[in-house]
Amino acid sequence: SPRVLSGIQPTAGSFHLGNYLGAVRQWVALQETHDAFYMLADLHAITVTQDPAELRANTRLAAAQLLASGLDPDRCTLFVQSHVPEHAQLAWVMNCLTGFGEASRMTQFKDKSARQGADRASVGLFTYPVLQVADILLYQANEVPVGEDQRQHVELTRDLADRFNGRFGPTFTVPKPHILKETAKIYDFQDPTVKMSKSASTPKGLINLLDDPKATAKKVKSAVTDTDTVIRYDAENKPGVSNLLTVHSTLTGASIAELEERYAGKGYGALKTDLAEIMVEFVTPFKERTQQYLDDPETLDSILAKGAEKARAVAAETLALAYERVGFLPAK
Ligand code: TYM
Repeated sequence: SPRVLSGIQPTAGSFHLGNYLGAVRQWVALQETHDAFYMLADLHAITVTQDPAELRANTRLAAAQLLASGLDPDRCTLFVQSHVPEHAQLAWVMNCLTGFGEASRMTQFKDKSARQGADRASVGLFTYPVLQVADILLYQANEVPVGEDQRQHVELTRDLADRFNGRFGPTFTVPKPHILKETAKIYDFQDPTVKMSKSASTPKGLINLLDDPKATAKKVKSAVTDTDTVIRYDAENKPGVSNLLTVHSTLTGASIAELEERYAGKGYGALKTDLAEIMVEFVTPFKERTQQYLDDPETLDSILAKGAEKARAVAAETLALAYERVGFLPAK
């Protein structure tokens, strides 16, 4: 069956609603139909300053949240990026194929380095997308399930795979992004013109799955909408309401058209109250399941150890082929 690979950074602690709806939800579905590899991107996490104890705790926490979301270690390979040294090894090769200007054009790097100040941004942050390229190519992934903000990195992966294959002969599968239109970009609940992100200007618009459910309900009820009263999906003119409809629709399975009909003649309050309840019903068991996995770190670590072993088997084979193709003398 076709293969997928994706990753999430274990930096923020709690996943937010954008991570879940944009990516993790698709991962859970794809493990049924694809040979699926999912990774905790801890190498990516150190491109900005990190606290070692926090990184360790957050890596376990992210694994627990993925399992609580429905990833099943019997149906997918769940592993920690740093457990598979081939990622860093292939990244070096891909760095040497990447143009300096090409890397400079990555919008996420430009945003993040602007936020930190050019002098404080690390070389690791600059070359972060190339590490992501290596992540994907090592597994010969056909598809990469991500949110819209990762599209450019998948495009870079396609370019570099083509470049490598062109220069050294067919080696890597050229992957496609798997981005669902409806949930590609979940917006901030206070400023529905920007994507939901852990670096939001105010925590009020950031829906963290592990927050106290009461606090989440409050955030949903105070979501920014518009001065109109009609509940209608119109991403351009009514971004706040449209975002709420998207979240409602994805969590309940009701279509947007059904929701527009259901809320016809009702005010925004009705939609927000219902959505607050839906969110509470979603996050309460999610939090409980996450805690259960955290309470049993031995099981968690053994799931990750098995995942790393399965991942390494695939990664080592691809790296050996790539090393041979570029002309490294085999160490015999
Ligand atoms: P990260 O950790 O920032 O985000 C994890 C996933 O969540 C998606 N996402 C969103 N989707 C919709 N709406 C939003 N507001 C939103 N915010 C985040 C992201 O698109 C992503 O899919 N570089 C990656 C991690 C990574 C990776 C990889 C991904 C490392 N190696 C290889 C794919 C393949 C990142 O930082 O994602």
